[in-house]
Amino acid sequence: MLPLRHFRKDEATRDRHAETTWSSEQLIQALFVTTESKGKEPVPGFPGVCRHGLESLLHEVEALLTAGIRKVLLFGVVPPSYKDEAASWALRADGPVPTAVRELKRRFPELEVFTDVCVCGYTSHGHCGLVRGEEVSNDESVLLLARMAVVHGEAGADWVAPSAMMDGQVEAIRRALDGRGLSGVRILSYAAKYASRLYGPFRDAAGSAPAFGNRRSYQMDVRNGAEALVEVWADLAEGADAVMVKPALFYLDVIQRVRAAFPRVRLAAYLVSGEYAMLVRAEEEGSAPGAFREAVTAIFRAGADLLITYDTRRIASWGGDHA
Ligand code: PBG
Ligand code: ZN
Repeated sequence: MLPLRHFRKDEATRDRHAETTWSSEQLIQALFVTTESKGKEPVPGFPGVCRHGLESLLHEVEALLTAGIRKVLLFGVVPPSYKDEAASWALRADGPVPTAVRELKRRFPELEVFTDVCVCGYTSHGHCGLVRGEEVSNDESVLLLARMAVVHGEAGADWVAPSAMMDGQVEAIRRALDGRGLSGVRILSYAAKYASRLYGPFRDAAGSAPAFGNRRSYQMDVRNGAEALVEVWADLAEGADAVMVKPALFYLDVIQRVRAAFPRVRLAAYLVSGEYAMLVRAEEEGSAPGAFREAVTAIFRAGADLLITYDTRRIASWGGDHA
């Protein structure tokens, strides 16, 4: 008989033998920013999540920094009347994201700012690229995404995070940034992003649901695991500094495969809106108290270095390192 229970004897012993640890340095808070200067608007069906005007955003970030969280990922939200087929507002230096980035970097230089680079929140049809007929046109979309990344880089973003799943987007963004003297801006690519059913609350928050069709012609098929390695490999070859698996909890196998195939790559996992809402509700209902914490532990155990989600302050409050 092996004395395995020795390692589980008491809390201190268990802590010493825990294989999985994490710190608040590994947390990235996703935030929705609007064009309004004031205001904080809760999103129905998305527990604890708000759209932030600039003032509210500054308060939120102050609280995050106090909790030891230094990384934020910004998503822009514009009213329907700003949306058009060309995603014009995605390129405006006075849009919600560039405005927020400038202000955040000025007020909190220690903050690491990531920006989502995708146009679904800015197009009238809600697709992640430019639509020609019924199709999302890859190459034109890539050029648009590269211009958007430059706008974010010029505003002072530390990282751009392309999420449109267009082929060649990382390479085009890298080239465009370098061409503008923005070589210091890094790329976190949503390399393995699945056409998931778990993005509902996010689409409500950003008003970015597609008006027709779905995203299956650009996001990955849920049935494919090995293909994630090809996506990751391609994005690394194109110049990604870090890669992402999204969603996280339903795709722990993918996180583990990417970690095994690329031991040294910086790997982020996105606990997406639908997963987050399920966990928060299960906790509130009392059916699975502690489920959120267990889920976070599982994601780090699977091999993620970074975790993006919607209540990183709650995660940081657990003290960081055990389940
Ligand atoms: C859009 C985008 C989505 C998310 C992040 N960027 C949704 C989508 O593909 O429709 C989802 C995040 C979440 O659900 O938390 N490019
Ligand atoms: Zn999109």
